[in-house]
Amino acid sequence: MDTIIGIDLGTSTTEAAIIRNGKPEMILNMDGEAITPSAVGIDASGNWVIGEKARAQYLLSPEKTAIEVKRKIGTGDLIPLGNQRYNPVDLSARLLEYVKHYASESLGEEVTHAVISVPAYFNDIQRQCVVRAGVQAGFTVDRILNEPTAAALSYGLEHMDDESHILVYDLGGGTFDVTLLEMFSGVLEVKASNGDNQLGGKDFDQKLMDHIFTAFRQKTGVDLTSDKAAMARVKDAAEKCKKALSSEDEYHIVLPAIAMKGSKPLAVDMTVTAEEFEAMSAPLLERTHSPIDIVLEDSGIDFSQIDKIILVGGSTRMPMVARDIEKYTGIRPVLAVNPDYAVAEGAAIQAGIISGAIEPEDSLVMTDVCPYSLGIKVSNGFDHDLMSFLIPRNTTIPVTRSNTYYTFRDYQTDVDVVVYQGESDVASSNHLIGDFRLSGIPSKRQGEEPLLVSFTYNLNGILEVKATIQSTGKDASIEINMMDNPSSGEDTHDYGTMDLEKWKDNPAGREFRSTIRNVERALDRDLISDIDTEDELTDLLTDLKEAIIDNDLDEARDIEQEILDILEEEDI
Ligand SMILES: Nc1ncnc2c1ncn2[C@@H]1O[C@H](COP(=O)(O)OP(=O)(O)OP(=O)(O)O)[C@@H](O)[C@H]1O
Ligand SMILES: [Mg+2]
Repeated sequence: MDTIIGIDLGTSTTEAAIIRNGKPEMILNMDGEAITPSAVGIDASGNWVIGEKARAQYLLSPEKTAIEVKRKIGTGDLIPLGNQRYNPVDLSARLLEYVKHYASESLGEEVTHAVISVPAYFNDIQRQCVVRAGVQAGFTVDRILNEPTAAALSYGLEHMDDESHILVYDLGGGTFDVTLLEMFSGVLEVKASNGDNQLGGKDFDQKLMDHIFTAFRQKTGVDLTSDKAAMARVKDAAEKCKKALSSEDEYHIVLPAIAMKGSKPLAVDMTVTAEEFEAMSAPLLERTHSPIDIVLEDSGIDFSQIDKIILVGGSTRMPMVARDIEKYTGIRPVLAVNPDYAVAEGAAIQAGIISGAIEPEDSLVMTDVCPYSLGIKVSNGFDHDLMSFLIPRNTTIPVTRSNTYYTFRDYQTDVDVVVYQGESDVASSNHLIGDFRLSGIPSKRQGEEPLLVSFTYNLNGILEVKATIQSTGKDASIEINMMDNPSSGEDTHDYGTMDLEKWKDNPAGREFRSTIRNVERALDRDLISDIDTEDELTDLLTDLKEAIIDNDLDEARDIEQEILDILEEEDI
């Protein structure tokens, strides 16, 4: 069986681990460090620089260096670097490529398999992006694992015989996760997960940065926020200050010649006390409370039943975090043995369970939950944008759930099954994760033809949605498979909607934008005269987007012409 490494691809730092003699061991990078800054840049001669070199370069040329890339994953935002803009997936792939390289060097064999952890609260789109980055880096991604579950695994391996409810509180560089687990005789069961994808150490840095900007403006009248180089230095100083205040009462920030007033250089020169920092951070800590409440509520457990709270993530080194948790829950939390390594170690344990590097009798049995609700868009006749939930959030996976739906128009012969992930009752406010059409429904009055829709969500995070016409047995389905190599999709109907939307990533696709928009509008507003033409246009639209994704522009132009001919016939 191939070697599989575990990777914690973090917002601020990235780590990798492997199982040796039944125990996780950190893998050292080319600098001999277990922790690699998650920074990617392009140096003066146009070469890629990764990790510590890139982090150091950030201070000198922030415009050529990307940090905290993970925060942009799945948002559709591009990251400017030099005079180009990069997809967060491509930059994450660079980081993972570096991990692959140093792991192969360190282990003395070509490493091609990985388990990669993600915040529990990452949605399917973000998970797919991480898988894509892994594949792009040359890995076969054997499993995507939730970070708090990974942290709990690394804890659990040492405490297999304990029976307890454990709350894992992971405050990292960019994300916050909280997970409740139950352990009993070697079985680790995730009860519920919740969190905030946009809360982490970075936000504490930002509070200090704002404090510095305001003080500087008041003193000198100069605004530092419009100067990217100054911003990078202030950010660096803010993070240093934050870390220092984890063990000291005050910190003196000095940044000489940060700006000029006429010909006079101005400096930042100020002292921040731990007390001041804590006061400005209070609203951030406040934001951690509601995810804790939701996790307890979803798992039907109250504070008195929690046996242990484990702190994971670099930001839990701030003493105010443990204090806040104790004040809120009445329980004094314990620091994970090594808060920076716990997630990578857990990912390695999962990798070891898959590869066989961990003996089955020593291994934990683990169950996980799906952190978001999953469902489809339905209509009640008036409102066409309602969410019907099939798998509520925090359901234990693997799971299959189904529900019966009916046609809502007379003589309706096809339905679009549109799959969303999220908690809103308004379908389109959630994340669209895929869609497909079921046609060939016998033409009857509304409500007379039952359709069975079933959702299957497995441990790998693969969601299969199937719709069946009950009277005829005809069905259609879609597999929203985040473990797939996205470039291998051949059958157009297996393409998730989100994958198709990648046509926008190709700048050359711009010339087709207005045609695509026109077709989408016509389809949305039902402007097409008959179903067959509608189907034809839908297929052509898919082909067009695929051609753009494949950068086959001649093909795209041919398809566009076919579309334009139809639109003209339809008078659109
Ligand atoms: N001593 C310290 N005091 C305060 N904060 C610290 C300390 N050490 C590290 N941090 C902060 O911890 C964060 C990094 O933590 P960690 O490496 O766990 O995050 P990550 O895994 O990169 O991010 P995420 O899990 O959110 O994707 C950074 O914001 C860093 O400033
Ligand atoms: Mg982390």
